[in-house]
Amino acid sequence: PRYWLIVPAAGSGQRMKADCPKQYLRLGQRFILDITLSCLLDNAAFAGCVVATGPNDQWWPETEASKDRRITTCIGGAERAESVLAALDALSDRANDDDWVLVHDAARPCLHADDLAHLLTELKNHPVGGLLATPVADTLKRTGPGSHEVEATVDRRDLWRALTPQMFRFLALKQALESAINSGYPVTDESSAIEFAGQIPCIVEGRPDNIKVTVPADLALAGFILERK
Ligand code: CTP
Ligand code: MG
Repeated sequence: PRYWLIVPAAGSGQRMKADCPKQYLRLGQRFILDITLSCLLDNAAFAGCVVATGPNDQWWPETEASKDRRITTCIGGAERAESVLAALDALSDRANDDDWVLVHDAARPCLHADDLAHLLTELKNHPVGGLLATPVADTLKRTGPGSHEVEATVDRRDLWRALTPQMFRFLALKQALESAINSGYPVTDESSAIEFAGQIPCIVEGRPDNIKVTVPADLALAGFILERK
């Protein structure tokens, strides 16, 4: 099977409160989206890459990636899962049902090459696929809905923070996303849709500094992580 790459970059970055979507903010001289894409495409595994952009995106033509002939774009949807599904549709002429698809957030520019390589090799012969994740570090408390009263301390020994890339088979991922979206299931990542379809993804432990740039303070943090890379 071949490997395809999907990068959802159609979000508007509400929590970042910037003048443009956060994937088009710069860290150093480069767009976050360009940093993310060059880390991914430095790995020679990929047969092609689809970036889902927003319907009113005016920044994409300014990127280095827009000149890269390995990359095509599609218009994303209102939710992340819909953007990924649109990218899968854009691949349907080229991808085989059992090809692998890696989905990685545009807003995760700090991915290390060795985590990507590790994910690819660990899951190469896995029937379902899986995701990078990192063990939960903090003590976790549960309250009642909307309450601030502690009901319990949650055992975190078997809890993980889901990261990207997430890697699944083309047809299995497409069908899982379609049925989860149609059922109104809250699809927060690819793995949740695959789980909803009754399949069991595998976790590959990744570095905790593969952060998603979400709020303004994450920019300085991502800059620091990238400088030390
Ligand atoms: N994304 C997407 N299509 C959407 C929503 C999100 O392709 N309709 C992408 C974002 O561009 C981002 C990734 O999914 O790369 C993770 O989403 P998130 O961090 O939530 O980004 P935004 O939705 O842009 O930010 P916010 O939720 O703060 O508005
Ligand atoms: Mg969002």
